[in-house]
Amino acid sequence: MKLFDVYPVNDIIIDKAFGSHVWDDKGTQYLDLYGGHAVISIGHTHPHYVKRLTDQLHKVGFYSNSVKMPLQEELAALLGKVSGKEDYQLFLCNSGAEANENALKLASFYNGRKKVIAFKKAFHGRTSLAVAATDNPKIVAPVNETDNIVFLPWEDEASLEQAFQQHEVSSVIIEGIQGVGGINVASESFLRKIRSLCDAHNAVFIADSVQCGYGRSGKFYSHDFAGVNADIYSMAKGMGNGFPIGAIIIAPKFHAVYGMLGTTFGGNHLACAAALAVLETIQAENLITNAATVGNYLMEQLRTFDKVKEVRGRGLMIGIDLPEELSFVKKELLHTHKIFTGEAKPNVIRLLPSLALTQAHADQFLEAFGKAINK
Ligand SMILES: Cc1ncc(COP(=O)(O)O)c(C=O)c1O
Repeated sequence: MKLFDVYPVNDIIIDKAFGSHVWDDKGTQYLDLYGGHAVISIGHTHPHYVKRLTDQLHKVGFYSNSVKMPLQEELAALLGKVSGKEDYQLFLCNSGAEANENALKLASFYNGRKKVIAFKKAFHGRTSLAVAATDNPKIVAPVNETDNIVFLPWEDEASLEQAFQQHEVSSVIIEGIQGVGGINVASESFLRKIRSLCDAHNAVFIADSVQCGYGRSGKFYSHDFAGVNADIYSMAKGMGNGFPIGAIIIAPKFHAVYGMLGTTFGGNHLACAAALAVLETIQAENLITNAATVGNYLMEQLRTFDKVKEVRGRGLMIGIDLPEELSFVKKELLHTHKIFTGEAKPNVIRLLPSLALTQAHADQFLEAFGKAINK
């Protein structure tokens, strides 16, 4: 059997990884500013993470949600504490798409409505409702098409108000910082507008924090910059530092009913051990503060390069918008300077490193970037 060829891959085999570095099968070291797509939050193969997962695997790796799981309670308590949302409720699943799917469903169960407001360039995942709320017709199959989703221009308060007049809105879903869309930061005033319209119309504010959440922005949820709470936050990526786990946290006004949401694998013992190790490390190593400090430093320095069109982002979620003639820079960074970065169309380099990235790593990148853009 061969693989279903859906990924355009780099011709590199990663054989070993530690901290902010990976090594290929020939022993070449790479600086990883991509983190396997914003997934590596505390650093590759972090010793505490490896130990917690190994210890757990020796005890029990998996059992379903049909028995009590103190690890889930422990995770809920610690996530509440670290994120500052202690009165929310936790539902665990396996991926970002699944988290958003559950968030949108829960909103609809809550207010009995169907219309979802999403935004241009949004990416919310590939399951049926999440992909319908994703602004990319190429990945929406005919079976996923629905007129329940209303796409609005990004940051346009007037069209948002109008949509609330025209529709019985169930929920508004928004990334605090659009990732796939090219690192677009939602303004504090726009997020506050969403909050007030949702309050006025009993609609649900869903904060997609799958990529921008978990401390990456320099706050636990990037929506926190607006000083208002969403009703549901979805998360995944950095949550398990590579172990597949996703979640939604749900405001107290939502009441659970047996069977309303469910999953076989979600919240299993190993996944909880991974997520606990991540939060414990975020706390012990002050990684959210580090993300803010190193991220601000990187952005300040990047803005001094004349050839860069724009630098956008917060913390360690950074987009470097380059002119067309510099579209070769990402490949140059990888092949000549041995630095992994991410990208967004058409010409944005996306930096999504571990939250433990040091200033020395940042300097190494800046030096290589300077050489690459002047090649
Ligand atoms: C903002 C956002 N939401 C949802 C998803 C979907 O997550 P997953 O690939 O884990 O299903 C992604 C993935 O890139 C994302 O960036």
